[in-house]
Amino acid sequence: EDPTSLPLRPPVVTIMGHVDHGKTTLLDYLRKSSIVSQEHGGITQHIGAFSVNLSSGKQITFLDTPGHAAFLTMRQRGANVTDMVILVVAADDSVKPQTLEALKHARSAKVPIIVAINKVDKDSANVERVKSDLAANGVEIEDYGGDVQVVCVSGKTGQGMADLEESILTLSEMLDIRAETDGMAEGWVLESSIKPIGRVATVLVKRGTLRPGDHIVAGRVAAKIRSLRNEARIEVDEAPPGTAVEILGWKEPPDAGDQVLQAPNEDKAKTAAHYRQELKERAENIAQQA
Ligand code: GTP
Ligand code: NA
Ligand code: MG
Repeated sequence: EDPTSLPLRPPVVTIMGHVDHGKTTLLDYLRKSSIVSQEHGGITQHIGAFSVNLSSGKQITFLDTPGHAAFLTMRQRGANVTDMVILVVAADDSVKPQTLEALKHARSAKVPIIVAINKVDKDSANVERVKSDLAANGVEIEDYGGDVQVVCVSGKTGQGMADLEESILTLSEMLDIRAETDGMAEGWVLESSIKPIGRVATVLVKRGTLRPGDHIVAGRVAAKIRSLRNEARIEVDEAPPGTAVEILGWKEPPDAGDQVLQAPNEDKAKTAAHYRQELKERAENIAQQA
């Protein structure tokens, strides 16, 4: 099939950068809620995901990644499910070890980046230093003749945020991001938790469309989708490619990082889940014998 005949889908954008450089604050500004202040100690404990609807009618799906080193594995997965990385660098702190770490992940996943120089509202901000530090680390920014877009922003005042959205859409158009909207859906579990409403998993849909009543397998768990909820916890009828949704209807919670595959019916979903369980047990047996 000719890939250019597939429908365009929203870009999936992962926010990366050094601890406290303002990743969550930027996202929070975009979604206009207050998860930063709700988080214990202001440290992101897990990956959050949400899709924003722009006034243009376009959509962008954002993934937040934790600054904590223990979540390195999830971050690596983040780089693999994402279309682009927003590298957040605080204007008063410049390039730091986790900035370089994020760059490494983006490069190894062959994912293009946009640099967001954040906290430009601060008196101690030094944008030129950030630019030269990035260039010194091989980032080919447009100011120095390269093609990596650099946007100056403040998650606090909102300065430059419209430019950041514009840069994302520009890159997205260049990448020409498309996916099938029908056929068996495929996605990834970004996080999973037990809430009063039941077991909930945030799933990023990469192709196909998920709807209530669909049978899916995530890792070794089969489920029939009871309902889908968007970032605002509002029930939606469907989750098309490039969007993140909360899925309810799990008997067991799936693991973050599990791949989600739609199955044509309950039998096939259960068989697939059972088979994966068997594979895992076999691998464990082999590991024990070795
Ligand atoms: P981790 O998830 O822990 O890695 O941190 P983070 O990158 O998500 O940073 P976070 O959004 O938690 O912000 C860290 C601190 O910087 C908080 O105190 C924010 O209020 C502050 N901050 C974030 N963005 C800005 C900004 O644009 N300007 C100013 N002045 N402060 C900011
Ligand atoms: Na923080
Ligand atoms: Mg954070």
